[in-house]
Amino acid sequence: MPRPYVLLSAAMSLDGAIDDTSSSRLVLSDAADLERVDAERAGVDAIMVGAGTLRRDDPRLVLRDRSRGRDPVKVVLSGSGELDPAARFFTVGDAPRLVYTSRPERAMAVLGGSATVVDAGDPLDLDRVLSDLHARGVSRLMIEGGARVHGLVLDAGVVDELHLVVAPLVVGEAEAPRFGGPAPRRTDGAAARRLDLHLVEARPMGDLVLLVYRAG
Ligand SMILES: NC(=O)c1ccc[n+]([C@@H]2O[C@H](COP(=O)([O-])OP(=O)(O)OC[C@H]3O[C@@H](n4cnc5c(N)ncnc54)[C@H](OP(=O)(O)O)[C@@H]3O)[C@@H](O)[C@H]2O)c1
Repeated sequence: MPRPYVLLSAAMSLDGAIDDTSSSRLVLSDAADLERVDAERAGVDAIMVGAGTLRRDDPRLVLRDRSRGRDPVKVVLSGSGELDPAARFFTVGDAPRLVYTSRPERAMAVLGGSATVVDAGDPLDLDRVLSDLHARGVSRLMIEGGARVHGLVLDAGVVDELHLVVAPLVVGEAEAPRFGGPAPRRTDGAAARRLDLHLVEARPMGDLVLLVYRAG
């Protein structure tokens, strides 16, 4: 089934945390990195996050630099369909918004006309989501998290490119969300699995490092 090229983009601490458990969002990027991410966003057709990221971070998912062109389509994955129509995902910018959910009736009831709601199957079927996005003209998809969505796409082996920024912080909290998704997910007894990704660049950016991996 045709699907978009998938770019997974994330930032983590030295101990793999992508956020902490405090009430405010953990800052892992700097201004130069935010610029880099904005340029990447400008090069994709759609940006996807999970409902957890919408609830926790309330991201706008629009280009910071308007001169870079039109905002990508915004995409959210939600099993429950329980989304807040006042979230900035729905209220900021004029790019189309797509909600892939296992509870389309619930999502339509809470969101009204603020997004296109698509039945993603129950349990949520990632292949179905990606092939539907492709059919809607999305040939490059950027996935920005959070942890559970990282796990979903890494486990499914659909990541074509990974941009991972490592910041010189140690979060040190067992409960902090981690890159790669919540553990444990595997029941096969295997200790670790090597991803079919190889490192193509390690770029120092001040105190940050950008690691670029590609599939194959
Ligand atoms: N540092 C970074 O690069 C970065 C980037 C983005 C986010 N984050 C952080 O990541 C954290 C959020 O991560 P998270 O794991 O809580 O949330 P998440 O991955 O953003 O979203 C999880 C939600 O997505 C839906 N979902 C995902 N996979 C599903 C599946 N297989 N089946 C059904 N539903 C599925 C569910 O929605 P429902 O609950 O509606 O069922 C689930 O609760 C936040 O702390 C945020 O700050 C960090």
